[in-house]
Amino acid sequence: MHVTKAELTAMGVEDSQFPKDGLPEIVLSGRSNVGKSSFINSMVNRKKLAYTSSTPGKTQTLNFYNIDDRCYFVDVPGYGYAKVSKKQREEFGKMIEAYIETREQLRLAVLLVDFRHKPTEDDCLMYNFYKHFNIPVLVVGTKVDKIPKTRRHRNEKEIKNTLDFNSTDGFIKYSSETHQGKDQVWKYIHNFLKE
Ligand code: GTP
Ligand code: MG
Repeated sequence: MHVTKAELTAMGVEDSQFPKDGLPEIVLSGRSNVGKSSFINSMVNRKKLAYTSSTPGKTQTLNFYNIDDRCYFVDVPGYGYAKVSKKQREEFGKMIEAYIETREQLRLAVLLVDFRHKPTEDDCLMYNFYKHFNIPVLVVGTKVDKIPKTRRHRNEKEIKNTLDFNSTDGFIKYSSETHQGKDQVWKYIHNFLKE
């Protein structure tokens, strides 16, 4: 997909601050440093739309990126960053939960996990949370360029086992460096937007 417009058009912590145009939304989540900002930038061919260099834990709002007036990518604060206070973590948790539970425009969750490692406990909690609310999930395994081809099958299997992956969900290996997986992810998203 050729993206001509990608703009951060809304930021907020509650419904009244979220977009009101009813476009479908795709929420992106993952632990801090997993490559979330790099994923957004590479998907839309922009170097600095989402800040990759920002201090971890800095994002404190839901950020809505309008993609060609077709959908929003909703960037949420990364989890698992130790320096964020417990109170702040609880507040993020509540904000994200409320969004996932109640937002009608939410069509798909993209859960980014580091393809090099076994998913963390937080990754599993996040996946289960989506499943509990019947949100379809696309799991994106980031930084695949760092894993030799011969080990990729094994890693994918281990990630799926650890998550207790449901075969109705999607799984795509991704690299923001080489753009491996980019066309596949767009194709997957298109299918959800058609419905
Ligand atoms: P926070 O916003 O801090 O939670 O992190 P993030 O999830 O947005 O991660 P970010 O995109 O900032 O990437 C973290 C680091 O991983 C950066 O140094 C990126 O260059 C690197 N990185 C991200 N994606 C890839 C990838 O696909 N391949 C490789 N080799 N490095 C990557
Ligand atoms: Mg980021």
